[in-house]
Amino acid sequence: MRISVEEAAKLLISGKVVGVPTETVYGLAACVANEFAVADIYALKGRPANNPLIIHLSHFEQIYPYLKEIPPHFEVLAKNFWPGSLTLVLPIKEGEVPMAVRAGLSTAAFRIPKHELARRLIELTGPLVMPSANLSGSPSSTTYEHVESDFGEHFPVLDGGPCHRGVESTILYWQNEEKNWKLARLGAIAPESFKCILGDVPVGVKVEQAPLCPGQLYRHYAPKAILKRISDDIQGVVIGFDDRDYGEGGRLLSLGNSNDPETAINRLYAILRRLDQESVTEAYVDMNFPEIGLWMTLRERLEKAAGGRDGV
Ligand code: TXA
Ligand code: MG
Repeated sequence: MRISVEEAAKLLISGKVVGVPTETVYGLAACVANEFAVADIYALKGRPANNPLIIHLSHFEQIYPYLKEIPPHFEVLAKNFWPGSLTLVLPIKEGEVPMAVRAGLSTAAFRIPKHELARRLIELTGPLVMPSANLSGSPSSTTYEHVESDFGEHFPVLDGGPCHRGVESTILYWQNEEKNWKLARLGAIAPESFKCILGDVPVGVKVEQAPLCPGQLYRHYAPKAILKRISDDIQGVVIGFDDRDYGEGGRLLSLGNSNDPETAINRLYAILRRLDQESVTEAYVDMNFPEIGLWMTLRERLEKAAGGRDGV
């Protein structure tokens, strides 16, 4: 059900959960301090309680009351990338962030979204937690229709049109022991973009060895269909590129041109959702693209979407 910014603010302040557009993906929003609404988010998504949420702000100054310390480069990262698709995980004063939001950790994740409607809403409500607006484990929502399809036509959603980036924010976290910034999630900003500020391209730790929070271990972004790498003789659906030939037997669901990673990540979730809508049971994926920049985000999402099931 489409609602206005004013209606969304009213619902949120009265303790309800609503769908909200951001430039990355749609979020399921609740007021940070309302523990019942936060609990509703976990229930609605079917999200495990040990997977913490991101706190979304409208103004930079709103972050200071939460912070226990201010790591090096924090302000320059925030000034360069906020509002925008970067999430920063920072050490917090634990009393300022409810347990359920941070899943008991001594850190919390923050970002200021770029989408005008999201920021206007947060100005009316104060800080909002917003996980992606999808059922836990399935592809994120990049349109109003996706949110409606997961949560029903009566669920209140602010319609901000299709998301410009179409993939979640990149997450950096401050590693206190090593005194540097690490990559917690590939996303809408390429890791190389941070080199001029941090001196190096931030790297991630292998999640399986040392998850930052148990939530990183769950299955993500997955359609019901089995995803396989393209082979010579394709019969059926191909997730691939306009400028490549997949033979007579392939039906292309296009990620755009093979030199355009931004379009590819922007289209990915709609394509994965379409597989389920059309009850496709098996699809072939063209993974022949570079291992740099935003292509890494596309590769990682496709690998997660395949869920390690003998697929991509
Ligand atoms: O683009 C986005 O970030 C979207 C939009 C709606 O803003 N939100 C989003 O939220 O992707 P969600 O809940 O789907 O993903 C949040 C990620 C989770 O993987 C969680 O594990 C991580 O952030 N996270 C949150 N707090 C953390 C913390 N304190 N330490 C480590 N990871 C954390
Ligand atoms: Mg998510």
